[in-house]
This record gives sequence, structure tokens and C-alpha cells, in this order.
Amino acid sequence: MEIIVTNNYEELSRKAGEIIDSQLKKDSASVLGLATGSTPLGTYKELVMSYEKGETDYSFVSTLNLDEYVGLSPDHHQSYRRFMNEHLFDQINIQKGNTYIPDGKADNLAEECERYEQVIDEIGPPDLQLLGIGENGHIGFNEPGTSFESGTHVVELTPSTRQANARFFDTMEEVPTHAVTMGVQSIHKSKKIILLASGKRKAEAIRQLIYGERDEQFPASSLKEHRDLTLIVDREAYALV
Ligand code: GLP
Repeated sequence: MEIIVTNNYEELSRKAGEIIDSQLKKDSASVLGLATGSTPLGTYKELVMSYEKGETDYSFVSTLNLDEYVGLSPDHHQSYRRFMNEHLFDQINIQKGNTYIPDGKADNLAEECERYEQVIDEIGPPDLQLLGIGENGHIGFNEPGTSFESGTHVVELTPSTRQANARFFDTMEEVPTHAVTMGVQSIHKSKKIILLASGKRKAEAIRQLIYGERDEQFPASSLKEHRDLTLIVDREAYALV
């Protein structure tokens, strides 16, 4: 794995933005795997800035998002579809039909998982997958204990993940209990993976990712086997290494 340590969050976002922009310049029909959470927000701002400067073109780009909450409609203020529209898709010239996110409102979630895995195979695999990391080592919504062989599936969110995401909802009861997520194996299909981590909150997870064994109790540790993994972490997140 390659590790890039930056001085702060702004520099981390610039670095990630540059890597994605250069992928788009190399292949204008790239497939990008995208993530939500607060960490990639700065990266999306960088992508919008370079698009506005005319440096990038998304006409032929496709995107595949990692996950979506179960039960939230696409226009719910905390749905990941809405997050992506607001922070990226509405601000660039991507065709909405080329942006894929699991449907958390599907009547039959098992069928939705199968359909999404097929989409990953037909549209993807991503040339580049952007990832954040949960404090407990989750990637996408693959919580500790998820099989490394897993495809897209429904997960029950752990109390700690619900707690960590509660800040975005008015009350704890509103935080969804389940999500549809690409599995660990689905994520591994990507040709290149960039994992971002910023701030003290993530320092223990980054220490464990770098020094720990591969262990299904720490989902991000599966990434150690990936052929092209880059960590971009700021000094605070790297503090325990
Ligand atoms: C959520 C998302 C993950 C994300 C994680 C960390 O659980 N499903 O994809 O990596 O939050 O979020 P943040 O970047 O806000 O710390």
C-alpha cells in the first residue's frame, strides 16, 4: 500500500482531487466508485472547482456509489442519493443516468442487492474507488464481522455507527437501522482504491489498518490484499502510526 500523509484536511482533499482528475484526463469514460460521509466532501469541492475551470469533463463518466440507507427516499435530506446530487452531480456535467446508487426504498431488498451487484459488473468495475473509513474500521457500511467474500447486501448498522451518524439527523430514532452496501468483495473489484482519513477520530482505525492483521472484525483490513491501495491521511489521522 502507498501512504500519503498530508499536513491537514485541505491538502488531503487537494491530493485526492488531483488523483481523480488525472484519472479522468487519462480516460474520459472512467468509472468512479464514490463514497459519502464528511471526509470526501473536500474532495468533491476540488472536483467541482477543476470542472468549473474547464479542466475536466464528465459527459462520459459513470459513477457507482457504495451504499444507501434502507427506508430513505432519494430526496430525503439524509439519503446518500441526495448527498451526491447536492455535493457533486448537480454541479458537474455528468448524466444522471450514469450515476448509480443502491435503492434503499426497493420493495424487495434482496433483489435490489443482486441487481446492484450486476450493475457493478456491467458498468464497472470502477477504475478508481474512493473510500472513507468508520471509527470501527467499517468501509461502505460493511460492519465488523462482515465476510470478506460478501457481495452487495443489507446490513444492520451497529449502535456505534448509528451514533456516529446521528449528528446528521434530528433525533436518534430517525437514524436508519439498516443500509444496502457493496460488500467487501464488491469493493475489491475496483482497479485502484484510495482511502481517505482525517482527524484524531480516525487515528486508531488508521493505526490498526497499517499494523493489524487481516481480520473480518476490522473490515478495512481486507484492503491490505488489494493490488493498488493508496491511503491519503492527514497528520492527525496518522498520529498513532
Ligand atoms: C458512513 C459511510 C462510510 C463512511 C463513514 C465515515 O458510515 N457509509 O462510507 O466512510 O460513514 O464517515 P465520515 O467520513 O463522516 O467520518
